[in-house]
Amino acid sequence: MRVFVDCDPGIDDAVALAYLAARPEVEIVGIGAVFGNNSVDITADNALRLLELYGRPDVPVAVGAARPLVQAPRLAAHVHGGNGLGDVELPAPAGKPIAESAAELLVRLVREAPGEIDVLAVGPLTNIAIALGLEPRLPELVRRLVVMGGAVRAPGNVTSHAEANINNDPEAAEAVFAAGFDLDLVALDITMKTVATPEWLSDLRSVPGERAERTSAFLDFYADFYTGIFGVRQCAMHDPLAAAVLVDGHLVTDSFEAPLRVELSGGLTRGMTVADLRPRPGADDRRPARVVTGVAEAEFLTRMMDSLR
Ligand code: BDR
Ligand code: CA
Repeated sequence: MRVFVDCDPGIDDAVALAYLAARPEVEIVGIGAVFGNNSVDITADNALRLLELYGRPDVPVAVGAARPLVQAPRLAAHVHGGNGLGDVELPAPAGKPIAESAAELLVRLVREAPGEIDVLAVGPLTNIAIALGLEPRLPELVRRLVVMGGAVRAPGNVTSHAEANINNDPEAAEAVFAAGFDLDLVALDITMKTVATPEWLSDLRSVPGERAERTSAFLDFYADFYTGIFGVRQCAMHDPLAAAVLVDGHLVTDSFEAPLRVELSGGLTRGMTVADLRPRPGADDRRPARVVTGVAEAEFLTRMMDSLR
């Protein structure tokens, strides 16, 4: 399968890349970097470093949006470290980003192979929204879009109702939800329940090799942050779970379908992902998305560990 990844690495983005890179049947056709966990220059540079670490140095990396469509950017060094990777220094990459922007690269790739490429979006949706502006037929040209983002019935993680990727660019997310993609949403509803447990984190420490060693070091920083949330030393694995939903669909045990919208104006709720849960959504002609609500957690954790061996 052919996958374009749009991301803001980011510690859990890194693990998502490891998850995909370890699978010989997955061709990563390109990476779009976006601001989010850090500035876009840093997330693009991290993507290059991570592709070398995880054994896919030839994947093209394109720099994308440096800021949201409307609001001012907010970054997340407190969660992902000053360098976006838990302050762990990876070797400088041999390659550099290509000249096309992330949106241009995505549009070119899907025009060259209509209906063949899946998109995994695990950062703010700005690049995808810009790509929609360049190519309104994007939802037909992309085979499937899996988004990590939103909090549908669960609480948010940056405000009471908003999750970081959606909140970082609500206007972009709303444009993407409106566009008619074949879309799976992997929201906090499932990612906060599918965590790297203390045992998993400790097992990873005994896996030999540079991939596991470096990833374990990123995750140490991430687990420090998440310990403050969970009260035990474990961490949410948002982005790798979205990667798993894309490439290991059998792991999904439960989901529901609903049209999605993003609240753009509420004083308390801006950035909230709103699913219309009525059995027959009002005058809503928006294509419903699948919202993942159950996964085979043990198998996911095993596969994630295997990808780091
Ligand atoms: C999402 O926000 C980012 O900080 C993570 O990388 C993940 O994509 C979780 O809300
Ligand atoms: Ca991310």
